[in-house]
Amino acid sequence: MTRILLHRADGKTDAWVKDFARCMPDAEVEIWRAGEPVAPYDYAVVWSPPEAMLADLAKVKAIFLTGAGADGLLKFGDALPPNVPIIRLGDAGMGVQMAEYVAHAVLRYFRRFDEYEAQARAGQWLPLPQHPKEDFSIGVLGMGVLGTRVLEALAPFGFPLRGWSRTEKTLPGVQCYHGADGLDTFLRGSRVLVCMLPLTPDTSNLVDRSNMSKLPAGAYLINVARGAHVAEPDLLTLIKSGHIAAATLDVFRNEPLPSQHPFWQEPRITITPHISALTLRRESVQQIVEKIGRLNKGEAVDGVVDRTQGY
Ligand code: NAP
Ligand code: GLV
Repeated sequence: MTRILLHRADGKTDAWVKDFARCMPDAEVEIWRAGEPVAPYDYAVVWSPPEAMLADLAKVKAIFLTGAGADGLLKFGDALPPNVPIIRLGDAGMGVQMAEYVAHAVLRYFRRFDEYEAQARAGQWLPLPQHPKEDFSIGVLGMGVLGTRVLEALAPFGFPLRGWSRTEKTLPGVQCYHGADGLDTFLRGSRVLVCMLPLTPDTSNLVDRSNMSKLPAGAYLINVARGAHVAEPDLLTLIKSGHIAAATLDVFRNEPLPSQHPFWQEPRITITPHISALTLRRESVQQIVEKIGRLNKGEAVDGVVDRTQGY
């Protein structure tokens, strides 16, 4: 029997327990509760666990995350058990959602629907010139599981595509840049900047005034990664100056976005509540169960977080 320790910050555990029972009938799933003694468990399944759970996480063979980003766990730093592998979700139904979200935002700006929405509210009928497609290059920061899926989804529309990663990559139809040396050239040619990076010490605040100023005038920003990638006051300044034409933001430094936050008052910022790629429970449980099966047989699995890189 495989014993799984589950924690859900939202307290909605029943459906997860049922899905584990369906996919892995011989598994025993227990819900972690603060202050209750914890029996020996084989694996833990968590998202952003409380600090009080760390001692129990030290007793398992692997920690599965029910999301793609590992920042919610890695933030505990040295308090984390050092030798327990942390395994993130790899797509598990998030790739297609990201593709939908980013393609929608890109096409909305390219076809100027944001401006037509404002016109319609003002009762205005005014056809605008089309953006030349060759000037509407899309630069994706992060060419991992989700960034690659987004670039592939955008390919049929014929925009010039570019991607930036930490290590060198090749992707058909995509101009690839990497590392600190490749960032300037990547930014200077990206009319639409899409942030799909993990949050690490190297990527925090990367989308700041200096880097956004390198984008072509009238650039667009789409952030579907983490709020802390973007220097929020810098974005407001550059939107007000017109250097950034508009932004679509799904993630923020403080979530939910506080009601007093100036982003709410800026019509050129489109806000969504961290929904660009939701964790799909069934797909996630299926992926975790498949990986547990491989680990139980002593086999390697993908998605193991590299703690030194932070993702
Ligand atoms: P991933 O597969 O780990 O890919 C990360 C990419 O970022 C890789 O291409 C990596 O480069 C690149 N990268 C990391 N550090 C870098 C650096 N310092 N400089 C340049 N490139 C760097 O991650 P993923 O599955 O695509 O997910 C990306 C992020 O999306 C997650 O970490 C999470 O924060 C966010 N996310 C948000 C939502 C939402 O609903 N808003 C949902 C899911 C995920 P290499 O290829 O060279 O390693
Ligand atoms: C969500 O934000 C994730 O990282 O999966």
